[in-house]
Amino acid sequence: MPHGAGAHGRIQHPGEANETPIAYGPGAGGSAVTAGASSRVQWTKDVVVIGGCGHVGMPLAIAFADRGLRVGIYDICESAVKQVNAAQLPFDEPGAAEPLARAISAGTLVASTDPALVREAENVVVVIGTPVDEHLNPDPEAIPRALADCLQHFVDGQLMVLRSTVFPGVTALVERMVERLGRKIDVVFCPERIAEGRALIELVSLPQIVGAASRSGAMRAERLFRLLTHEIIHLQPKEAELAKLFTNAWRYIKFATANQFFLIANDCGLDFERIRVAIIHDYPRAADLPAAGFAAGPCLFKDTMQLAAFNDNNFTLGHSAMLINEGLPLYLVNRLEQRYDLASLCVGILGMSFKAGSDDTRSSLSYKLRRVLQFRAGRVLCTDPYVRSDTTLLPLPTVLAQADLLVIATPHPQYADLRTDKPVVDVWNLRDQGVRV
Ligand SMILES: NC(=O)c1ccc[n+]([C@@H]2O[C@H](COP(=O)([O-])OP(=O)(O)OC[C@H]3O[C@@H](n4cnc5c(N)ncnc54)[C@H](O)[C@@H]3O)[C@@H](O)[C@H]2O)c1
Repeated sequence: MPHGAGAHGRIQHPGEANETPIAYGPGAGGSAVTAGASSRVQWTKDVVVIGGCGHVGMPLAIAFADRGLRVGIYDICESAVKQVNAAQLPFDEPGAAEPLARAISAGTLVASTDPALVREAENVVVVIGTPVDEHLNPDPEAIPRALADCLQHFVDGQLMVLRSTVFPGVTALVERMVERLGRKIDVVFCPERIAEGRALIELVSLPQIVGAASRSGAMRAERLFRLLTHEIIHLQPKEAELAKLFTNAWRYIKFATANQFFLIANDCGLDFERIRVAIIHDYPRAADLPAAGFAAGPCLFKDTMQLAAFNDNNFTLGHSAMLINEGLPLYLVNRLEQRYDLASLCVGILGMSFKAGSDDTRSSLSYKLRRVLQFRAGRVLCTDPYVRSDTTLLPLPTVLAQADLLVIATPHPQYADLRTDKPVVDVWNLRDQGVRV
């Protein structure tokens, strides 16, 4: 059953859930799909994803195409568009290559740099990047600015789904933009909550939060996402915007808590991992205490900062989490300096992506570690089995041979049974030899 947290936290069951499901895809009433559209329009696509060549848009487009929908991608990145149309993923995502190849050869997925594609589909999902700037300020105008380039191509009767993580209030801002243009378009906010590397599993297993101000927007978004997942949770747009930021800030603060515990234990000469294992063993109330490690990537830090900015920079927990998580590479280097004559040593950094098993280096703390070590160590060599975008990286055997000291910065499974006689810093306890530094 669909449900949503009502105004007073109770569960709602929208009556419309029993409406006849709308058909999508090639067989859906010839080429016309009129799922809730106010005017009958000949849609040649069911969904267009703006920013659909990215880490979130690509899996979503593939998942919809895999469900039989006719999907278009509009993206400004020419090289990625070419790759997608040649059935190549622009980045690694497990399980995505096969359905992408199927969709491209069936003609159900096509990518383009032409914004006019937007007018082809009843449902338009917007999932472009929303980074904070170099001063850590979120940019509430990022989505409106990106939309300004293609808004002229929107037509009456469409459903616009904002899916990027946005500064609270952006959905209302976009609704006003659409109104000013005189278009009759439902605007909703449906946050993406997948983790990279698990996108295609989680798109069809996680509940979908739908933030809509209008009943018709809520029901149309529910129908669309019901094609992917079984559970829909209805909120108001601003509630949904905050829900997404709370989700990421919560995770970021949890990692910071573990990292601070690690610092406390390590500073008094104890192994945090031994203590953590003791805490969580058969003790459900602490089962979610994570291990220590670099908490990085394009989302957690940035969304914690968005939330802080939204709350006039009154977010003590969030700011503390940032100091702890971002400070971990510096702490490690300081500890190494206490134990070794770092300036005369060659340090090998193992793992440059922001998380295990990924080729994504965005906001990876491995690069912060590299920068600090380049300043304070004799030499720094880096390696990663997944990352192809950084031509300075070396093969693992070269790094193992030349480095005096190794730091596992990303817990890639390949490093778990690393054979080396060099000292290894492993705050993740990947090698099961403790985390003391
Ligand atoms: N990466 C994640 O794991 C994750 C998870 C949940 C939510 N999010 C959120 O999803 C959003 C997208 O993140 P991402 O990691 O996919 O970013 P990304 O940078 O990988 O992808 C963004 C895509 O949008 C395209 N683009 C940028 N501006 C455009 C424009 N004006 N018109 C059309 N295309 C444009 C880019 O070329 C790129 O292909 C962000 O708001 C992010 O916070 C990300």
